[in-house]
Amino acid sequence: MKMRASYPIGIFDSGIGGLTVAKAVKEVFPNEKIIYYGDTAHLPYGDKSGELITHYSVNITDFLLKHDAKVILIACNSASASAFEEVQKHVGDRALVMNVIDPVVEYVANQEGQKKVGVIGTKATVNSGMYERKLRNLSPDFDVISMATPLLAPMIEEGFIYDNISNAIIDAYLSNSPLNNLDSLILGCTHYPIIKNQIRRFYDFNVRVIDSGLIVAKELYKQLNSRNLLNHESQQSSADEFYVSDYTAMFGKISRMFFEEDIPLQQNNIWT
Ligand code: DGL
Repeated sequence: MKMRASYPIGIFDSGIGGLTVAKAVKEVFPNEKIIYYGDTAHLPYGDKSGELITHYSVNITDFLLKHDAKVILIACNSASASAFEEVQKHVGDRALVMNVIDPVVEYVANQEGQKKVGVIGTKATVNSGMYERKLRNLSPDFDVISMATPLLAPMIEEGFIYDNISNAIIDAYLSNSPLNNLDSLILGCTHYPIIKNQIRRFYDFNVRVIDSGLIVAKELYKQLNSRNLLNHESQQSSADEFYVSDYTAMFGKISRMFFEEDIPLQQNNIWT
């Protein structure tokens, strides 16, 4: 199969967190069609084994390839950390495969004055050690401290944002933790941009808090441009498509918080 510029951008996540990345992709590429798959039947990925996350990721990749995706963008840190290489091997030259970790690592390594870098994310992401390894590969002097913060994603999904409960949870994780005197803190989970300002406030706006959305979307632009795969049509071929493996009213409701507009989520469980 030959990739074409008019083909859609495939994006997937364990659920709806990856919509923060999809939103940034829409900002950078208003005329590109996106096909999004959120594996809500199997979330959270962050508590699962690398083998299972890889299995789900490869299945979703096949679904996106069947929809002619020219790109498979893994908009989930847990899947990026556990499944990227297998997905890339599986896809071969049928599509471009991107994860959300490499562009952020490169971005941080290119910033001036970065010595101590923190990373927060799911257990799967933090236990993989992927951010440390990749950051130190680019810049061996980096002091990288990572910490799993597994309560943050469900907290956000339950709507605890900018209130006493979320302040208490953020405070409990970040106070008295090794995450102090940081130059930067990487939000290593695609849910966390929703609480980015709350985290910035925790650090009195003295720490650079970095999320992946725009950084990844800009890198995707470069990659597509260099392969002549940008869609130059002035209009999108057809509407974006958003699928979830298990639809509930709650996902319908909170998807707006992540994508900043109403989106029609369609149920499509590729495992049944
Ligand atoms: N969005 C996922 C990530 O970036 C976190 C949620 C989950 O654990 O499934 O890691």
